[in-house]
Amino acid sequence: MTKLPRLSGKVALVTGGGSGFGAAICRRFAEEGATVVVVDRDAVAGERTAREIGANAASIEADVALAADARRMIQTAVDRYGRLDILVNNAGRAQTPLPFTSTSEDEFDRLFAVNAKAIFLAAQHAVPVMRRQGGGVILNTVSVAAIRPRPNLTAYNSSKGAALLMSKSLAIELAPDNIRVNAVCPGPGDTPMLATFVGGDSAAHRAPFLSSIPLGRLTAPLDIANAMLFLASDEASVITGAVLEVDGGRCI
Ligand SMILES: NC(=O)c1ccc[n+]([C@@H]2O[C@H](COP(=O)([O-])OP(=O)(O)OC[C@H]3O[C@@H](n4cnc5c(N)ncnc54)[C@H](O)[C@@H]3O)[C@@H](O)[C@H]2O)c1
Repeated sequence: MTKLPRLSGKVALVTGGGSGFGAAICRRFAEEGATVVVVDRDAVAGERTAREIGANAASIEADVALAADARRMIQTAVDRYGRLDILVNNAGRAQTPLPFTSTSEDEFDRLFAVNAKAIFLAAQHAVPVMRRQGGGVILNTVSVAAIRPRPNLTAYNSSKGAALLMSKSLAIELAPDNIRVNAVCPGPGDTPMLATFVGGDSAAHRAPFLSSIPLGRLTAPLDIANAMLFLASDEASVITGAVLEVDGGRCI
């Protein structure tokens, strides 16, 4: 018997889909039969991912931290494809390491807006659609920073801590609606964002981060995409409120 692709017939919206983990999630979901809506603040990057996937993808330019954009991205996806089965809140903002005493209030607010509030806003618009359909899946890209914080990243770490708790809180609130909510926590990742955290792009900058990872390598975009694929699929139909560390053992 031929097996259907694991996300056959599903419509998925992935924020931050123009780069890094998000782009890999879009590609992997499409390989498994999903129609993918790529959302990114960077219109060129989002369009690149959608074009690479082809006919089963579209891109939307939106800033996930803005309530009006959150509403528009969900509405546009539903208008175009008639449903929304999977929401991946993946867009995130990095922080340059700084003592918390030197982190500005503006930077704190922006980190919380993109890394935490955006999940709340997107879910507010996606959940009514999922309820009407009889269920859905929400996946949030959190971070090992929410579990095993490093110094000088207090605002970023805390915003991810809020995202982690929000995943669990939404999971318990939405379980009666058959909407599953899970968090994926990448370790230091092989994406453009890493340079901001480690203060540069060289092997020397990465070395201290690598030395704290038991498996001795960074988290690749495909590692996150495969974990997201499992959690989005029906194979994970009893998994909700989970926090999956995909980090080479960094959190041990
Ligand atoms: N790279 C790491 O080391 C690492 C580790 C743990 C967690 N994460 C998390 O993984 C997620 C993806 O990061 P990445 O490493 O792939 O980074 P990345 O910089 O490669 O990609 C992030 C994408 O998000 C988009 N984006 C940023 N702010 C946005 C906004 N307000 N609205 C819409 N789009 C926005 C960017 O334009 C970019 O395309 C983030 O939530 C990040 O916090 C990253």
